[in-house]
Amino acid sequence: MAAVAICSNLPGLTLARQLRNSRSLVLRRPNKLFLRRAFTAKVRALSTAVVETKQPEPAVEETNVSTSRNILACPICYEQLSIDSDGGLTVDSISGSSLLCNTCKKTYYGSETHFELTASSGAKEYGEAKAPSTEFFRIPLISYIYERGWRQGFLFGGFPGPEKEFELIKNYLKPVLGGNIIDASCGSGLFARLFAKSGLFSLVVALDYSENMLKECYEFIKQEDNFPKEKLTLVRADISRLPFPSSSIDAIHAGAAIHCWPSPSAAVAEISRVLRPGGVFVGTTYILDGPFSFVPLLSPVTQNLTQISGSHMFTSEGQLKDLFRACGLVNFQCTRQRRFIMFSATKPC
Ligand SMILES: C[S@@+](CC[C@H](N)C(=O)[O-])C[C@H]1O[C@@H](n2cnc3c(N)ncnc32)[C@H](O)[C@@H]1O
Repeated sequence: MAAVAICSNLPGLTLARQLRNSRSLVLRRPNKLFLRRAFTAKVRALSTAVVETKQPEPAVEETNVSTSRNILACPICYEQLSIDSDGGLTVDSISGSSLLCNTCKKTYYGSETHFELTASSGAKEYGEAKAPSTEFFRIPLISYIYERGWRQGFLFGGFPGPEKEFELIKNYLKPVLGGNIIDASCGSGLFARLFAKSGLFSLVVALDYSENMLKECYEFIKQEDNFPKEKLTLVRADISRLPFPSSSIDAIHAGAAIHCWPSPSAAVAEISRVLRPGGVFVGTTYILDGPFSFVPLLSPVTQNLTQISGSHMFTSEGQLKDLFRACGLVNFQCTRQRRFIMFSATKPC
């Protein structure tokens, strides 16, 4: 558990520099603003912080985005599921709804808060524990404190904070605005809710393996007046077994999650499978490079932590780029701020 905590919340010495808006990066120092409008700019502060962008204007032209609302598939055969309720997939109609796979003849049920779409859903005697980095977030207390303090700690590792991350994300997602989006490993849904409220997507799926994170997401939605519930659905699923048909999804976002996945390659291969040609994957994580790469024995330490926690620590941008290329994604782009990285990659057309 301690190892998971280390992976999820790295310490830093100074507070994050400010990333201002979707088209420009601002590096704020006392009484000074340095503005860079070009995405190819590399902005270095005089102190320790570095904001580095390597993102040309999105190279993928806007293509036909999906407006279909029935996008859930059986996690066993990947065939589309039939919905039995008139309300479709919306937050309000999940409870009591069921989804039928006509191929496997299996029914998936909606709980009070989300659809259960793991492969083992419905098993009565069989149960399996996942890697610690997955099980950790299923603990009710962890789910409860996640958005009530824990996530704010990411600022110390260079994460700009949800609002500024959201502005950056929107830039990467420009080619697929108007389509559907999966907020994969959504946690308590802080980004899924922003996606839904932005009105920029036809449907948002908040997906996580932790039923307690999904419960928190549901509670946050209930507390908000005028939340566009028709835009959002909540799904419990494993990142390595996504309940969507192949080539059906316009965009996938995974905030602070890839380092928590037991097998990033299995997960990214699965993301590559469900993205439609031209679809975009955008996410964030930590990169333990810079001074960290000089720490003696870091490599064995990270290997051991990886084995114990089931999480994966990236030590260079090149590792991410290599992983995406190996899994069939192209057009790697990224934005850096100290240990923080926002990356994106595209399914080739
Ligand atoms: C650090 S939280 C990130 C939450 C949120 N996306 C954010 O930006 O703050 C990592 C999330 O990954 C989820 N997760 C871990 N293993 C998973 C798996 N095998 N499948 C799906 N989600 C998983 C956890 O439940 C947790 O909610």
